[in-house]
Amino acid sequence: MSEAISHTMNTIIWITIPFIAYKIYSRYITYRADQEFGKSHGCLPPPRVPARKFLGRDRLTKIFEAASESRLMEYFWSVLKENGMTVDHVTLAKHSFSTIEPENIQCLLSGKFEDYSFGTRKQLMYALLGDGIFVQEGPEWKHSRELLRPQFNFREYGDLAHFSGPMEDLLRCISTTLMDPTSNRVVDLQPLFFRYTLDTTTSFLFGKSIESLKSGDKAVKFEEAFNVAQTFMAKRFRVAAFWRLVGGKELRDACKLVHDFTDEIIERVNEHNGARDEDKDDRYVFLDKVAKEIPDQIMETLSGKETLNRNDLRQVKYLTDVLKETLRLYPSVPLNMKTAVRTTCLPTGGGPDRKSPVLVKKGEDVSFSPYSLHRRKDFYGEDAEEFRPESLETGHTVPDFAFNLLTRHFPRWQEDLPLFRDELTKTWGYLPFNGGPRICLGMDFAMTEAAYAVVKILQRYPNMTLPPHEKVVKTGQEKQAITLVIAPEEGCRVVFDDRF
Ligand code: HEM
Repeated sequence: MSEAISHTMNTIIWITIPFIAYKIYSRYITYRADQEFGKSHGCLPPPRVPARKFLGRDRLTKIFEAASESRLMEYFWSVLKENGMTVDHVTLAKHSFSTIEPENIQCLLSGKFEDYSFGTRKQLMYALLGDGIFVQEGPEWKHSRELLRPQFNFREYGDLAHFSGPMEDLLRCISTTLMDPTSNRVVDLQPLFFRYTLDTTTSFLFGKSIESLKSGDKAVKFEEAFNVAQTFMAKRFRVAAFWRLVGGKELRDACKLVHDFTDEIIERVNEHNGARDEDKDDRYVFLDKVAKEIPDQIMETLSGKETLNRNDLRQVKYLTDVLKETLRLYPSVPLNMKTAVRTTCLPTGGGPDRKSPVLVKKGEDVSFSPYSLHRRKDFYGEDAEEFRPESLETGHTVPDFAFNLLTRHFPRWQEDLPLFRDELTKTWGYLPFNGGPRICLGMDFAMTEAAYAVVKILQRYPNMTLPPHEKVVKTGQEKQAITLVIAPEEGCRVVFDDRF
């Protein structure tokens, strides 16, 4: 018996030792090849984010603390401000990079597109998103993109027909709330905008709106479940290699509710199509500026227009600038990540002068944050962290629109920003919609949709104000709900006044 055991042990040892030796050897060969690659490209390491505890556990603790205080983006931005625009860090023994250098982001999203993939994105998000375009790669993704692209031609929505029904429903929701005396004329716009987006998008993509603004209950449950599922996804990204530990019944239930809801939409759309065939905180500063200034432009530019179209909206220049400024400070996808599929390099950020290329080994993650990129003073000026669609020199705003035109004192987006100094920063220094081959397909649709919403709400309620005693905080210091997208944690409460 003991002889048999000793024989088995010997066999295990003789198999295991060469295997381990082979692993060590092949790691060494890869290490040497990576070093060679780095040397031949002049790569040097970027500054490292200090970690004081073993395996960088203290960094993970800080990330979770910031997340629980709803200040995650503020924390990530502070790390970059303290350490550099391209940094490397170790969290739970995993080495990765963060960068907000336009040159590096250009390389990730376009120049060396083929060197990077979404890494574990598909596995992490499969429970929620299944196998759609947001997680596809290679030929599968190309096929989906080619299928979808023709749909997104602006001629498909230029007459604004997809937006008008949902907007009427949204205005009806506002007036219903206002009729309730307990509302104090305060309406939280955030859930209404969520449903407005849902209704316009289903109308546009499926040819039939799900009309969630008309039948609130299900939509509210869907919204809650969608946010729960997204929060789980975001947590999974944060713990990287340990993502399998984040999940459980709550996630399963939320995903089920989301899937049931979307299946129902598709079913309803199919029925409809069948039938047709038969027939044949400063967030408050935003409110302040938007509510006070845009109506004048709307009056000037859109007066006398009974029906609006996309071109009319584009003529309200100030409105476009307000939306651009909003997406600058609050890009919907504030943080994104790519994983190297082969050993490669980022063009800048390494060495003492932080200008040398940086070696990125196969399997390492590189994250980039439009949220932080858009707050760089060297691109957007000293007041980069403030919401300022109006002119810097004069402080004049529209109705000073005419004044702006005459004196050429333009809002931030019309000024000679450092961002515009070269093609690289101009193209890769402002990225609310991503860039390169995977740039957002719905970019123009979303801008038109938002412009239409602002115009219609302001036409109906030109006198919007803050609720009395509402706490006002500095831009970027408000509580933010970070899932895969960014949203104000405490909603968007507004007092609507009918009186003209
Ligand atoms: C303000 C609103 C929006 C913003 C800021 C935005 C931003 C983005 C961003 C950052 C991505 C890249 C995400 C990634 O890493 O994969 C993306 C992708 C995409 N967006 Fe949007 N988006 C908006 C609205 C929309 C709307 C309304 C639609 C559709 C009606 C849409 C359709 C898409 C599609 C199909 C992709 C995938 C493109 C691809 O991977 O090839 N987006 N969007």
